[in-house]
Amino acid sequence: MPLRGLGALGSHGGFRKQEGQRQRGQGKPTWGLPRTKKRLLWMPLLSAFGCLALYLYGFRILRYLEGAIPMGICPIATTPLLTDKFTGVLRHWARSEVPTCTSWGAPIIWDSTFDPHVAKQEVRRRNLTIGLTVFAVGRYLEKYLERFLKSAEQHFMVGQRVVFYVFTDRPEAVPYMTLGQGRLLRVEPVQRESRWQDVSMARMRVLYEALGGKLGQEADYVFCLDVDQRFTGNFGPEVLADLVAQLHSWHYHWPRWLLPYERDKRSAAALSWGEGDFYYHAALFGGSVAALRKLTAHCALGQQLDRERGIEAVWHDESHLNKFFWLYKPTKLLSPEFCWDPKIGWRTDIHHPRLIWEPKEYALVRN
Ligand SMILES: *[C@@H]1O[C@H](CO)[C@@H](O)[C@H](O)[C@H]1NC(C)=O
Repeated sequence: MPLRGLGALGSHGGFRKQEGQRQRGQGKPTWGLPRTKKRLLWMPLLSAFGCLALYLYGFRILRYLEGAIPMGICPIATTPLLTDKFTGVLRHWARSEVPTCTSWGAPIIWDSTFDPHVAKQEVRRRNLTIGLTVFAVGRYLEKYLERFLKSAEQHFMVGQRVVFYVFTDRPEAVPYMTLGQGRLLRVEPVQRESRWQDVSMARMRVLYEALGGKLGQEADYVFCLDVDQRFTGNFGPEVLADLVAQLHSWHYHWPRWLLPYERDKRSAAALSWGEGDFYYHAALFGGSVAALRKLTAHCALGQQLDRERGIEAVWHDESHLNKFFWLYKPTKLLSPEFCWDPKIGWRTDIHHPRLIWEPKEYALVRN
């Protein structure tokens, strides 16, 4: 019983539908209060705590308290069935404090829920090539690219065939890398845009074209990453699936109504208040070539429509990405351990960060 209660209180949209159906089926709610009343009680309480903490200790304590907001867990009835194409049966019982599945049956991969060796063997058996794309335009190149590539060579899909694609406006400045067997690096020239927002916007269009070209022929699965991060742990084939989304490390505990989706109805990225499952991070997404063609086409088109109307979504391509994942559900979600911001500090549910954000120096790199 208490587990069901947690599910209903959970901050994320993932389990609401199932809970609702189950409750309707049984005719009465689990706890004494109806669900809407429970939420009414819970929201002001949380806000009051938040304001007090902010007043006393600033944002640090807020981030700490945030970790205590329940995220909901998987309904026990459905979890034993959860398997993954690459890792086999997922050990959801190893992480009973966090959600390991979504309401549409996709696994959420957390540290120690999978066997990395199974996924490794599966990729070798199918003789797959994995692509990794990164954009290094303007000052992002000298500030981040070398460390990004070095750490990727060390931790990304170790022992597998990998092709790195670096998109840059200065191909000659890309550092020389010694790569392992079966791994290669390609440098693709792109135009320099005058505003950093345009660089981030142009990314989807450039990726769409690349996926339809050589990259799409060479790779079976592709991951698209931001350059201002660094691998710190093994990032292997357990992350592979047809369509992979990354839970945003700043927002994974937040209640759904607080998530920073685009709310302006004129934008192609708009989500209304009842919509949205999770907030996904645009610094990492991936999938099969066909699925990513669809994703990048959708986002590029949305951005173009917005531009024609003279508007821009609040978080640029990330807003369009979130709209896409609302319409076409990802088949695998990665926990924030796969793209963690160390500035958030210690969290009990983050065991082993595998990719971390580098300090952002916007003043330096965006001008
Ligand atoms: C595996 O794929 C690579 C490149 O796609 C190819 O050159 C190689 O012959 C393949 N190996 C087998 C055993 O199919």
